[in-house]
Amino acid sequence: MQYFFQLGNFKGLSQAELSIVFESYNISKDSIKNFSEKILLIDSKDLNDNLVKRIFNRLGGYIRVGRVVNDLERFLEKEYEGKVVFGLSYIGDSKFDINKFNSLAKQLKKYFRDKGVSSRFILPKKTELNAAQVRKNLMLEKGFELCILENQDSQLYGETLEIQDIDSFSDRDYNKPSVDTEMGMLPPKLARIMCNLTGLQSGVIWDPFCGSGTIPMEATILGYNVLASDLNIEAVKATDKNIVWLSNNGYISDILYETFQLDITKPTGEVLKKLKHTQIDAVVFELYMGPPQTKLVTETQADTLLNDVKVLLESVIKILEEIGKRKIKMIVIIPSYKTESGWKTLRIREIFSKRWYVLNKEYSKEDLKWKRNNSIICRNIFILERK
Ligand SMILES: C[S@@+](CC[C@H](N)C(=O)[O-])C[C@H]1O[C@@H](n2cnc3c(N)ncnc32)[C@H](O)[C@@H]1O
Repeated sequence: MQYFFQLGNFKGLSQAELSIVFESYNISKDSIKNFSEKILLIDSKDLNDNLVKRIFNRLGGYIRVGRVVNDLERFLEKEYEGKVVFGLSYIGDSKFDINKFNSLAKQLKKYFRDKGVSSRFILPKKTELNAAQVRKNLMLEKGFELCILENQDSQLYGETLEIQDIDSFSDRDYNKPSVDTEMGMLPPKLARIMCNLTGLQSGVIWDPFCGSGTIPMEATILGYNVLASDLNIEAVKATDKNIVWLSNNGYISDILYETFQLDITKPTGEVLKKLKHTQIDAVVFELYMGPPQTKLVTETQADTLLNDVKVLLESVIKILEEIGKRKIKMIVIIPSYKTESGWKTLRIREIFSKRWYVLNKEYSKEDLKWKRNNSIICRNIFILERK
């Protein structure tokens, strides 16, 4: 059985996420092949539909997952109960003539009519049905979504097994009770990807710059136990409130989490003791990147900002040294700032000793970045491991 995964907007990050999650399920990352800019194909005897769905539902970087349909006639022979609801989507790199949808949908409808089965179809406005169209019409339960997967040389059909629950990501993004628009918040999908980049299926994650708690929120949903801290007591309260909201809204249950105030540059003995007594498996965080920037920064400003970032990062590393020598993962966002003479960032090797391995290149050929259009700050994601 061959499966397809439709990538989200940040291809390098999504690829790294899937490779790492596969490894945590003992599935070789070599089973992942690029089919097109939007589609990865997976051929692995270790996968089945249920496992594929389970894995997909953890991910932040993917839009759809499904099975490749090798024989369309045999696929259509499947028995359905009641009226069949089906839809069509095109996932390819070139322009698609949407009239082709109409003729294919009519052929399929006729096929069902000839078999005495009534059917109804839903077509996309442009190329792809959105998650709401697929979910609200119970397409995957009462029928199917057939995807036309295309690259420059070939075309395949795919049957969707799951589609990303975009409503729940948006709910957490926009409806959580505490927000900090000034400091900025990560998109929940990126926070989700970062948690997955740890390669852990369970364990304790610490976010030492929790802000309003986007990373702790996604981490608790994925089933990790969480420590969240911040210099600012208001941020600590905001994270608390947002996690309680998750619980009240059915996103989480039975999760251990603790929030506390901590200036990472001045840890007290009491905090170090607490951290020492918790077996932290990974630290996942977005560093403080200075005040929001709306126009290009000067080289000197960039140097000052980067030096502040460096001090914070070195403080985290120092605390991790102090609290124990065991294996630990670090998933960190380090900023680049846009200046008139180009982007400026930190040299990672000047900060981390050789005990820390940078794993980015093992999982993605591209740099792992997340950036809003026209933004002055680019977020670079690093996957590190202290062995
Ligand atoms: C970019 S924000 C994190 C936002 C968070 N990822 C979110 O999505 O809500 C950085 C956070 O670092 C905190 N911070 C700044 N300096 C700190 C320090 N010395 N120790 C700990 N936290 C600090 C700020 O209060 C801020 O909440």
